[in-house]
Amino acid sequence: MIRPRTRAAALLLCACLPLLAACAPEPAPSPAQETPAPEPTTEPSAAPDEPEEPAFDRQAHSIDDPASIWVVSNKLRPLSPADFAPADLSMPEGVENEFSQPLREPAARAVESLVAAAAAEGLTVRIISAYRDYATQVGLYDGYVARDGQAAADTYSARPGHSEHQTGLAVDFDDHGACYLASCFGETPAGAWLAENAAEHGFVLRYPEGKQEITGFMPEPWHFRYVGTELAQEMRATGVTTLEEFFGLPAAPGYAE
Ligand code: DAL
Ligand code: ZN
Repeated sequence: MIRPRTRAAALLLCACLPLLAACAPEPAPSPAQETPAPEPTTEPSAAPDEPEEPAFDRQAHSIDDPASIWVVSNKLRPLSPADFAPADLSMPEGVENEFSQPLREPAARAVESLVAAAAAEGLTVRIISAYRDYATQVGLYDGYVARDGQAAADTYSARPGHSEHQTGLAVDFDDHGACYLASCFGETPAGAWLAENAAEHGFVLRYPEGKQEITGFMPEPWHFRYVGTELAQEMRATGVTTLEEFFGLPAAPGYAE
């Protein structure tokens, strides 16, 4: 410690101390001080209130009326009446159609746009089954039962009065390849493209992998169901893959009787 010997010396020392302090090296800035102060930002002015997307209306169409594009038909939900026949059948144009079966008007137009979009990607897609009336389903189902037994037939063929094909809203596709009505259709370029793009045209893959306990049927990568673009795209957006789950319906693994 500096000890001034006289009062004058003490006064001199006091006068000099500020100068000494001024000569001292600047203390290193602390890391916090080194961080440049953030640029003053101009907050973006509050966005005007975006109008909220209206919630999807799950009651926009009936799921019970066989003439509704949202009708849900499964092993627990027979069409009513059982021999329902749609009133607006129409033949899809410009689409190969193995048995010349029509579809309901909106589904027929949607198939035309779907198949044209596939063709634009270089993919061949043809119809191998579309509208089947009650009597046709009787013949098909009975034939499968005679061939494979009822338990097996029930895993892949709907009983008459329960088939979506009878609504005129379901269509089976093929690509002229080796996977005609076979599970490998889903891995073909056409099958994979359909699964990816059908929703844009209003179709859902009705019997997806892993949902047999809910839909009642083994996976059918060839079977697409027209429900309209709003529902098909909502199901795609929400990741819900079956109509039963989307509408909160009971799983339908088997028939009631
Ligand atoms: N293959 C479907 C389940 C039907 O027969 O409608
Ligand atoms: Zn089908």
